[in-house]
This record gives sequence, structure tokens and C-alpha cells, in this order.
Amino acid sequence: MVEAEADQIERVKWTRPHLLGLEELSAQEIMTILQTARSFKGVLGREIKKVPALRGRTVVNFFMEPSTRTRTSFELAAKRLSADVMSISGSASSIVKGETLRDTAQNIEALQVDMLVIRHSEAGAPHFLAKFLNASIINAGDGSHEHPTQGLLDLYTIWEKRGSLDGLHVAILGDILFSRVARSDIWGLKKLGAKVTVCGPPTLIPPGIERLGVEVTHELGDIVPHADVINLLRIQHERQKAILFPSVGEYARFFGLTSERLKDAKKDVIIMHPGPVNRGVELASELADGPNSVILDQVTNGLAVRMAVMFLLNRARMGGEDELD
Ligand code: CP
Repeated sequence: MVEAEADQIERVKWTRPHLLGLEELSAQEIMTILQTARSFKGVLGREIKKVPALRGRTVVNFFMEPSTRTRTSFELAAKRLSADVMSISGSASSIVKGETLRDTAQNIEALQVDMLVIRHSEAGAPHFLAKFLNASIINAGDGSHEHPTQGLLDLYTIWEKRGSLDGLHVAILGDILFSRVARSDIWGLKKLGAKVTVCGPPTLIPPGIERLGVEVTHELGDIVPHADVINLLRIQHERQKAILFPSVGEYARFFGLTSERLKDAKKDVIIMHPGPVNRGVELASELADGPNSVILDQVTNGLAVRMAVMFLLNRARMGGEDELD
């Protein structure tokens, strides 16, 4: 339920041409996206799920890393807004023949593309492109840095379930060091007034993360009983260049959320996961599918959130009002 209390943060006129990260957004800008997403969620509940907001616009998804949820969701969101959309994967592009990212992006833009959704293994790749492209750039995940639309859909899901984030205690468990989701979540949650505790093995917690305003613990038992929301993260094996914990089994024993551990939690605790879930490692299968889990709600909300982001960026470029037609 999205209640009036959550609307107390004032909505603002959206002016940004790009969405690069939640670090740079104000609480008002974040709430503007969430409120716009709420309108689009209403549209998605109708029999005719399409609106003409991006008719005549062209969106390209350029993914240099694998994706199921984000890529599909962006593609579908663009279609629901009536844009022309296509997806390119890095491995099928001329980058494998030695073309630079900048040349690739400029060639895509030369095809009169209005929005470029990019996922890249290097932190800062979308910010780099935003410096010299006229097309709107949307960060769909840059290395271990940020995944802003995942952060926004996580915020939206908590807001929808609880009506407000102010004063909620959110635990983020797992591989914080390599997680772009953790960083976007932390920026967004802190701006909307939540208390955040991160928990994981010392080797997977970045030194100095307290500077972002979060608390740190290495004991699941310290945080599970107090959390209103538990957000599990997968171990990002693909980014780890050294062995940072003894074994996956050992990790699951100390940091995996199980039914036994959930007995100590609040009865209405919300269990979240950005996906993909490694069942039986960070999260027991029965909890992923259980009554406290909102994992599939997150995916559904991602569609409305991405429609909202594309709608607002397009409106800013056109100089129009933010109200949804
Ligand atoms: N949450 C997320 O980014 O999932 P994908 O990697 O499947 O897009």
C-alpha cells in the first residue's frame, strides 16, 4: 500500500538528461521517480498496457555483461511506452574486433538513437559516455559501482509494502564489496530515511563503508531479529580476483538465511533479492518462495520503475511537464 505518508517528500520537476546513479539524486528526485512509477504500475494493471509517451523515440539496450531481468525489463518498458527498441550484447558487437566503447556508442547514436541503456563491467562507463553523447544514458549496472534502476525498484517495493521508508531498518547481507546493488540501495535508502546495516564476512565488506552512514556487523544474529527488511546479495564470483572466504559451503553456514535463522526475525520481515538467486547459498529455497519473499514483486515493479525513468528522461529532453498523460 502506497499511502499519503510516503508522499510527504515533495515531487520536483525532473530536469536530468541521464540516469547515472542514486548518489547524485536528491530525495525529492527519487520520490518523483517512485511516484511516476506508481502511475505506470496502474497502467500495467489495465487491459491495454501501452501508452504513447515515447512514440517515435528509439531506445537501444547495450549490454556488455549477462542479464535476464534488467535487459528484458528495459526492453519491455520501452515497448510499453511505444518506443522502437533493440538490444545488442557486447559479445555480438564490433567491440570484440577492437572497436572502442566510445566509437561503438557514437556509431549507435549516429543511427538517431534517443536513449542508450548500458551495462558494463567497468565502473564509470555510463558516466564517460554521458560526457559526449546527446542521447540519454541510463546506467543498467557499471562494475561494482551502481545499479540505479535496481536500487529504485527495491525502494519502490519497500514503499509499496510499507507505505514509507522513514525509520525502517534494512539489512543488506552478503557480498557488499563487489555489489553495485548494495551501493545504489544504500544511497537511496539513506536519502529516504531508512537505517541500514550491512552484514557479511570481513573480506566482503569494503573498508570505510561506514562513511555512507551504514552500520556494519559480521554476525547474522546481530541483525536478523531487528530488521524490517532483509536484502540478500549473491556472491559476485565473476568480480573476485582472489579467494575471499574458505568455501561456498562455509559461507552458506555462516551467512546464508535459513528457516532456522528466520525464526528470530520479525514475523512480517520482508525478504528481498535482486536476482539471480543462488538457492541454498545466500538464501534457502523455501524462503525464496515463502510468504515473506517479495522477490518476484521486485521484478514486476522493475518494469514500472524503468518506464518511469525513460518517461522522465524523455520529458526533460522535450522540455515538457512531468505529469503522465
Ligand atoms: N538484478 C539484476 O540486475 O538481474 P540481471 O543481472 O538478470 O539483469
